[in-house]
Amino acid sequence: MPILSLHSISLTIQNHTILQDVSFEVEEGEVIGLIGPNGSGKTTLFNVLSGFLQPTQGSITYKEQDITGFIPSRRAQMGIGRVFQHFGIFREMTLEENVLVALEAMPGEQRKSLGDLREVVKATLAMATLTDHAKEKAGSLSGGQMRLLEISRTLKSGNDLFLLDEPTAGVSPKMTHQVAGAIEALKKEGKTVLIIEHDLPFISKICDRVVVLDVGQVVLTGAPDNVRQSKELQEVYFGADPTT
Ligand SMILES: Nc1ncnc2c1ncn2[C@@H]1O[C@H](COP(=O)(O)OP(=O)(O)OP(=O)(O)O)[C@@H](O)[C@H]1O
Ligand SMILES: [Mg+2]
Repeated sequence: MPILSLHSISLTIQNHTILQDVSFEVEEGEVIGLIGPNGSGKTTLFNVLSGFLQPTQGSITYKEQDITGFIPSRRAQMGIGRVFQHFGIFREMTLEENVLVALEAMPGEQRKSLGDLREVVKATLAMATLTDHAKEKAGSLSGGQMRLLEISRTLKSGNDLFLLDEPTAGVSPKMTHQVAGAIEALKKEGKTVLIIEHDLPFISKICDRVVVLDVGQVVLTGAPDNVRQSKELQEVYFGADPTT
């Protein structure tokens, strides 16, 4: 039984088709890469999955329940966690407070499963290599550090399904490696991850399967290496090669 199923999701905004007949299934414990050119609908699909946008057609099943009409907070309570393409960090709060506030917002059972929240805060800051900055305001961090704080906070939050929108954008290679390690650790715990990334080597390294979107439609799915070598990906993602 898949943990998540998308059934013919379409979204039209003001006569503009943004998603068209998107269907795929995600098994529990799978790490799926979602790739495609700028504007192909990847972030929009995450908005539909987390409930910020309602599809014009189609439905979503999560943990055997039809969640299509559920508001974002209800989906979050069901264990769907998200890292935004742009930040969700409170700049006036310290790093510790930023992590704690997110943990405290977790629904009861999920929060209980985390154990001592102070320990989770410590582990989160350690994951982001920001322990030395724990008492500083988040607004003083660099863009990449803020990104790391946000990723670590989401990854340590005890969710079941993670939606990661370009988690390594603006993050240095060493830390990208660390993010990959954190995702692999989640996979070992049986967690499910959907990840949008433009970094194909990163995607190949951590994903079981890749879904390629182009102009709001799924044009290809398969194992990362097969997708990377395919002619379709070359056409939609890299464009025509000017040297040939
Ligand atoms: N609320 C909205 N109203 C109107 N158009 C929208 C809305 N949200 C997204 N779009 C349009 O939908 C298309 C897909 O946008 P989306 O942000 O999903 O792309 P993306 O694949 O995430 O791109 P990128 O790789 O650049 O992040 C774009 O043409 C965008 O302008
Ligand atoms: Mg996007």
